[in-house]
Amino acid sequence: MSNSVCDAARQLHERLTAWRRTLHADPELSGHEERTAGFVARQLRELGYQPEERVGGTFGLVAALGPGTRRAVALRADMDALPIAEETGLAFASRSPGVMHACGHDAHMAMLLGTAQLLYQRRNELKRPVKLIFQAHEEQRPGGAQPLIAAGVLDNVARIFGLHIWSEMPLGTLGTRGGAFMSGVTDFRIAITGRGGHAAMPHQGVDPIVVGAELVTALQTVASRSVAMTDNVVLSVTQFHAGSANNVLPEAAELRGTLRTLDEAVRAVAERRLRELAEGIAAAHRAAVEIELFPGYPPLVNDPDTVARALAAARTVGFNDDQLQTLPVQGGGEDFAYYAQKVPAALLFLGARNPAKGCNYPHHHPRFDIDEDALPLGTALLTQLALGDDGEGFG
Ligand code: NI
Repeated sequence: MSNSVCDAARQLHERLTAWRRTLHADPELSGHEERTAGFVARQLRELGYQPEERVGGTFGLVAALGPGTRRAVALRADMDALPIAEETGLAFASRSPGVMHACGHDAHMAMLLGTAQLLYQRRNELKRPVKLIFQAHEEQRPGGAQPLIAAGVLDNVARIFGLHIWSEMPLGTLGTRGGAFMSGVTDFRIAITGRGGHAAMPHQGVDPIVVGAELVTALQTVASRSVAMTDNVVLSVTQFHAGSANNVLPEAAELRGTLRTLDEAVRAVAERRLRELAEGIAAAHRAAVEIELFPGYPPLVNDPDTVARALAAARTVGFNDDQLQTLPVQGGGEDFAYYAQKVPAALLFLGARNPAKGCNYPHHHPRFDIDEDALPLGTALLTQLALGDDGEGFG
């Protein structure tokens, strides 16, 4: 790191670490981030901000800074922890049994607080307003992003950036991808009702297992015959429940599974084909069918131009080309996707893996930890994203 933002972020190391550890020790589950939000609000007020709290009926909070004449840059951190019993043995490990910051959202808050501090000191240099969004409830549907958006947090926002710490990438690296970056998820349940009877006289009944078996096979055509080769769909039937005896035709069968896509239009096609196949095959066999879809977060699509701007800012604060990685599409979901549906957005992954410090466990693992040397790097990057001149087309 080389410029003045980097130097300032480096000097914040101790404070960033203290914030992160305080938050780490007191994790709260999705939708219950009351103490967390209170802590963040206090820090923001001490730094000179007047945060708006409980935005959209959630524990999310938003702090704004800078001249009001142009559209803003928004920076988002999430705040919730997971229902995991921590096994790191750290001095600042969770004091709440069964709850743990095992995804690094404690680090996200610390880095955004650090950014708040650096930006406040440089508020006269801001070329446009900045919105700092501390969002609740990311880990669980329906997510805390939509209520914030409904409450208007993206009004007059030109661009939004999110930074996720990432234990799969070495400390000092930054990864992302333009376009589809994380997948959209729809879980499903298909309940087939036939007519039970004696297994020796199936002609008198309607066998729901035969219907279900045909359906499992037919559902594979959603990916192979319903969308173009350039579109991506994965459909997996993961549960098939029916029957309890060798000589009895059961009355009902139930299939469950999950559908993953990288595009909302493709997701709509896949959901429609799933319904048509289930209803058609059931009807052909005189069985009844009930279909339930459980839509999760939509696909997260990064705006390529916003990604390019993020990479330029990363170079400014000292990331070199070897440290900037183009990542493959990620299988997980993120409710940052909702922001990205509204305004140009980029979600970035900040490497924090360091086996020498025991920071080599995956996210959502009881021994998950990060190398805290990543905190100043992320703080410098977020600060630069807010300070940097976007030039043309920013509005
Ligand atoms: Ni996360």
